Amino acid sequence: MNKTLQLCEDGSYTLFSEKAGECYHSIHGALTESLHIFINAGLRTLTENYSIGIAASGNESKSVQSKETFIKESLFRQKGLASDFKPIRILEIGFGTGLNALLTAIEAEKNKIPVSYLGLEPFPISRSIVQQLNYCELLQGNSLPYFKTMHECEWDKEYLIQPVFNFRKLQVGFMEAGLANGVFDLIYFDAFSPEAQPELWGQEVFNKCFRVLANEGILVTYCAKGRVKRALKAAGFVIENLPGPPGKREITRAQKLIQ
Ligand SMILES: C[S@@+](CC[C@H](N)C(=O)[O-])C[C@H]1O[C@@H](n2cnc3c(N)ncnc32)[C@H](O)[C@@H]1O
Repeated sequence: MNKTLQLCEDGSYTLFSEKAGECYHSIHGALTESLHIFINAGLRTLTENYSIGIAASGNESKSVQSKETFIKESLFRQKGLASDFKPIRILEIGFGTGLNALLTAIEAEKNKIPVSYLGLEPFPISRSIVQQLNYCELLQGNSLPYFKTMHECEWDKEYLIQPVFNFRKLQVGFMEAGLANGVFDLIYFDAFSPEAQPELWGQEVFNKCFRVLANEGILVTYCAKGRVKRALKAAGFVIENLPGPPGKREITRAQKLIQ
């Protein structure tokens, strides 16, 4: 499958897929789009609730202490040392360039919020393309080692990429992936468009998304098409229309809410 680099308006690269006939991101800005949709409208919704949850448990100094304990417990758990603690569990449908995973790892580190990330990608990009992506350069900081590990690590193996970011990727399509029910808090739904990849936007797909999410879990996607929102609703989701990034009027956030 042929993929070529394209420079977006914000200076970040995206890829054009000849097979899909479209880019991996908006040509207005890969970085801008990913931050807007997946980090701001997705991850931050959960991390804000997380902070509120901690704050509600006591005064300011106590809440800081609780947060540290929370992280420590997460690390213990990731090392198989027990604890009933659960990090934010994210499923990405379409790992691709790894941009969403990279931004999530940075956000998790910045806020000291434990995240467990599973990326699905049946058609990984080549090493030579990965080396030309300029995300780490644009983001500055020291994220390059994370990005390299995400791309170079083995499939279906867990990596503690940094103290609060646990990562695993599977080389499989979403519908073929064996995923347990109720195990994710957040889905980054980042497949190619319904026109390019209709099989990933059908009712069965959203029914599966609903099943694998925990109650109160959310799904975010750049797509705001009426038929996609109808399929999400029919699966049981509650829908929100949110303002989109440059070049896109609206995006969709869907929540699983079982009374
Ligand atoms: C629009 S691109 C976005 C990729 C990625 N999120 C990024 O930021 O680079 C869609 C991705 O979905 C992947 N994909 C294709 N079929 C898939 C499937 N059945 N399940 C999961 N991902 C799939 C493609 O290979 C591609 O990497």
